[in-house]
Amino acid sequence: MIFSGKNLLLKQNLSGEIFVNSDKSITHRAFMFAAISEGVSYIKNPLYSEDCLNTLLALAKLGIKFEKDKDFIKIYGKGFKFSSCDSLIDLGNSGTSIRLLTGLFAGIKDLKVSLSGDASLVKRPMKRVINPLEKMGAKIISNNFYAPMTILGDKLKGINYTLEVASAQVKSAILLAALNANDETNILEPIKTRDHTERILKYLGADIFVENNNIKIYPLSHSFKSDEFFVPGDVSSASFFIVLGILASKNGLKIKNVGLNKTRIGFLDVLRKMGAKISLENQKEISGEEIGDIIVEKSILKAIHINDKSIIPNIIDEVPILSVAMMFADGESVIENLSELRVKESDRLSAIVSEFSKYGAVLHNDGDNLIIQGQEKLNFNDIKVKSFFDHRIAMCEIILSLLGEGKVDIDNIDCIKTSFPDFFNCIKILGISL
Ligand code: S3P
Repeated sequence: MIFSGKNLLLKQNLSGEIFVNSDKSITHRAFMFAAISEGVSYIKNPLYSEDCLNTLLALAKLGIKFEKDKDFIKIYGKGFKFSSCDSLIDLGNSGTSIRLLTGLFAGIKDLKVSLSGDASLVKRPMKRVINPLEKMGAKIISNNFYAPMTILGDKLKGINYTLEVASAQVKSAILLAALNANDETNILEPIKTRDHTERILKYLGADIFVENNNIKIYPLSHSFKSDEFFVPGDVSSASFFIVLGILASKNGLKIKNVGLNKTRIGFLDVLRKMGAKISLENQKEISGEEIGDIIVEKSILKAIHINDKSIIPNIIDEVPILSVAMMFADGESVIENLSELRVKESDRLSAIVSEFSKYGAVLHNDGDNLIIQGQEKLNFNDIKVKSFFDHRIAMCEIILSLLGEGKVDIDNIDCIKTSFPDFFNCIKILGISL
């Protein structure tokens, strides 16, 4: 798909108000918890992106019924009484689906389910979930620690486990498995990761106790009652427009009703430290999650050096768009410790370096560190870039195209549907015609 630059960096004529799509992480969890509740759950404002639909369709293959409406979905929960599925369930591109569902299914006695995904998903590491689940007694047959995986559900035992990789997907898989264990499970996460699973468990009344980086969860003594649940806007989707607004909005940009969970908004702190003018309005709590409006103004950015390992899980999905912001900051920016970026939907560290440099960005990696020289503007024309079928890389490439003047051919943008189906609509609402 060819994009013609809109020269937004020079024109600075962006302004307006948008709603971004709902949160992907929270929607996955809401679908899963509705399925294991007893009765009908109403999930308001769910994300119907490809990744989340893959979670929903996997649950449907195991006997879960649902009725989809535009603004809400009714899910008929069955406790843990899922039916086995003989055919391989394809979870597409979705790491959250495969890792969390593996944990959920591992503890359901006599359930047999095989899970796989697309060319990217079968290359992503599953050892990180298989190891702790096997310690709990789970039976998982994998392709040498990669998908496809067959899960043979069984009664599990509680464990004391220190997370080896700072991953919310791994933590959540263990928490879901722990609901069906014979005893309590204790998880220590040396570095805090997103806590949506803990929040939804608390919201539904599970016996879960979180103190700093220690989580204690007891097996479920009563089934979850169905409930109403609201999904806020996805702050990771908002991040593309936040950076666009900081770089190119004359009169500011507002993104409404976005999730503001503290374990997700580290990139706002990074941008503020770089000099970005960002404010929050209408903050409130709904369904155990903080939400609000984010307002950004055109700002002059200065470079930053991020060497604190503990912030990485909090900004991991926003590193590609943060690197776009750093390309226009005054000075040299560095983000250290990005090894996890290499095992996302693509090797994002390599993708940032190889593709963003085609736009004229001056950046390189030194091992797992990313180094970016800021500049006033980029010079590119008639370039061909690859997205590696990775939604976040594709969206950054479109933002970069809009900021400059030249023509850009991006090989695949369809992948954006995995997380942000309304991405192009948001661009249109801001008055940009593509
Ligand atoms: C997610 C956790 C993160 C994140 C992903 C969504 C989740 O992955 O990158 O987009 O919903 O739990 P890891 O757990 O692999 O860090």
